Amino acid sequence: MKSLLLVLAFCFELANAFYLPGVAPTPYKKGDSIPLLVNHITPSINPEDSSAKTYLYSYDYNFPRFHFCQHPDGPEKQSESLGSVIFGDRIFNSPYELKMLENKTCITLCSDIYSKSDAAFVNRNIRAGFKHNWLIDGLPAARRMLDEQTQTTFYNSGFHIGFVDDENTPHLYNHHDIIVEYHKRKEDEYRVVGVIVNPKSINQGSDVSCAPQEENPVTLSQEGETGVTFTYSVYFVESPTVWATRWDKYLHVYDPKIQWFSLVNFSIIVVALSIIMSHILIRTLKNDIQKYNEINLDDDVIDEMGWKLVYGDVFRPPKNPMLLSVLVGSGLQLLLMALSTCGFALFGLLSPSNRGSLATLMFILYAVFGSVGSFTSAYIYKFFQGEDWKTNMILSPFLVPGALFAFFIFFNFFLIFANSSGAVPIGTMFVIVLVWFIISIPLSCVGSLLGFRRQVVKVPVKVNQIPRQIPKQSWYLKTSNMALIAGIFPFGAIAIEMYFIFNSLWFNRIYYMFGFLFFCFVLMIITTLLVTLLLTYYTLCNENYKWQWRSFFVGAGISIYVFLHALILSKFRLGGLTSVVLYVGYSFVISLVIGLLCGSIGFLGVMVFVLRIYSQIKVD
Ligand SMILES: *[C@@H]1O[C@H](CO)[C@@H](O)[C@H](O)[C@H]1NC(C)=O
Repeated sequence: MKSLLLVLAFCFELANAFYLPGVAPTPYKKGDSIPLLVNHITPSINPEDSSAKTYLYSYDYNFPRFHFCQHPDGPEKQSESLGSVIFGDRIFNSPYELKMLENKTCITLCSDIYSKSDAAFVNRNIRAGFKHNWLIDGLPAARRMLDEQTQTTFYNSGFHIGFVDDENTPHLYNHHDIIVEYHKRKEDEYRVVGVIVNPKSINQGSDVSCAPQEENPVTLSQEGETGVTFTYSVYFVESPTVWATRWDKYLHVYDPKIQWFSLVNFSIIVVALSIIMSHILIRTLKNDIQKYNEINLDDDVIDEMGWKLVYGDVFRPPKNPMLLSVLVGSGLQLLLMALSTCGFALFGLLSPSNRGSLATLMFILYAVFGSVGSFTSAYIYKFFQGEDWKTNMILSPFLVPGALFAFFIFFNFFLIFANSSGAVPIGTMFVIVLVWFIISIPLSCVGSLLGFRRQVVKVPVKVNQIPRQIPKQSWYLKTSNMALIAGIFPFGAIAIEMYFIFNSLWFNRIYYMFGFLFFCFVLMIITTLLVTLLLTYYTLCNENYKWQWRSFFVGAGISIYVFLHALILSKFRLGGLTSVVLYVGYSFVISLVIGLLCGSIGFLGVMVFVLRIYSQIKVD
């Protein structure tokens, strides 16, 4: 047990040990200027005050109501990858001037006056725990934290724009101590290996001095105008950390032992259960097949029971074969995208300093796997004896991606309405659509054509002319109840990970536990497959031959739990309509996507299973 843990931990370490080759270190000489870039201002959860409202959308650093200092020549947008734009990065240059090895103390940056309404706006956001996200040499500016359980220090990226004191009054941080950690590689060659910012709130009088004045922080009055002067200091500190491991302090895993432990425990249970289940299933099936093939010689015995009875109907095409085949194809497309993204990340091919590379990769893989999705969709549609192949070919690349895009646009309206920087600009929307039409649709058409060309697997038993009556089924064999039962198991596999994914989605945390994720994902696939197979086997034994939609819905049962989990376990109070719409909406879309993914796993697994077992029995 312990050694297994160690091996797993080692693999995880190994995956973290090497970074993307494309990211080369930047060498600096003494006096070289190091640009400080400012990213969007993001929300966070305020752990001290549970009554504080949480907002789920970010703002531009340059949003005028904040009055933060801007570059003298006006803010200039930095180029970003498609994925990082989609995921909300808005990076601009800043007026802060950093020169390698040149300490500066108390530089005045700018002064501004906050009106009543702007003060109220900033105070609201201080209470909501909004955070700055600065970037220096690709590293996020962080605060140094202590993990009390393991007594280790780590860097928590971002820092708050202000703080709330004991009397519940918000104060704005207007002075920043920037501490740049450098590593000396050789004579006059330095590299940045860590950035810490300690923000302070200092009410500057007529003479600007940056000595901390605990008793006199900046308070933005909501009754009158308040003038604020922004200052900063820069310190360069030598560090033994080498460039290659500079991210380690940022990628801090809270209590990794417990996480691995629960995961390994869970996976042992899953593996044990699946071995037992498949053993029972295989034995029962063998018995069944043997019995059926013996009985077949003796025509008089009709009182036989079980799945053999429905052999004449089991390959009867389901209702709505078009929709089912398109959904299964789209689910497979999502599955392949998720698996391969995880795979890339697992082998360290996605460095955290390559901002947005994960999102870009996901988007491109999704577009490329459209071909496989359409192929499957066409193949299954043909298997269902569908004839309207043109509609199938059009629906495959449009139905699910189109629905996702429609959701995306809908949420975007709310973001625009809330003045959030998260709203994706029209140009990016245009690029997404363009990529879709140039990469995905042609590939997907090729996939469809290949799918239709391909010889469909031969059905082992002929379909009877007259459909068989389905006997009354017990309550627990209803599709909806079965989906409810089945969903719990795969959900158990990913429940731990959902928390972290949601956190990184909403609060701009770096997600890096791809080892865990990959492992959980595989467990989820296995459990979905097994549970769906088992339940479908039961319904076939109860002479219910309609397995096609059922297996899809039973597999998709996990989505109910993902959605409920997101709604019930959100430990924060949402502020404003936009936050509520975004939270519920995104939870809904995510659970739909997971449902689609697991539904297609369920369907494809059962399809193979049904083809296999019915080819084993002899029928005249
Ligand atoms: C800059 O400040 C840091 C921290 O106070 C100090 O350790 C370092 O020696 C200073 N560097 C120079 C070049 O003065």
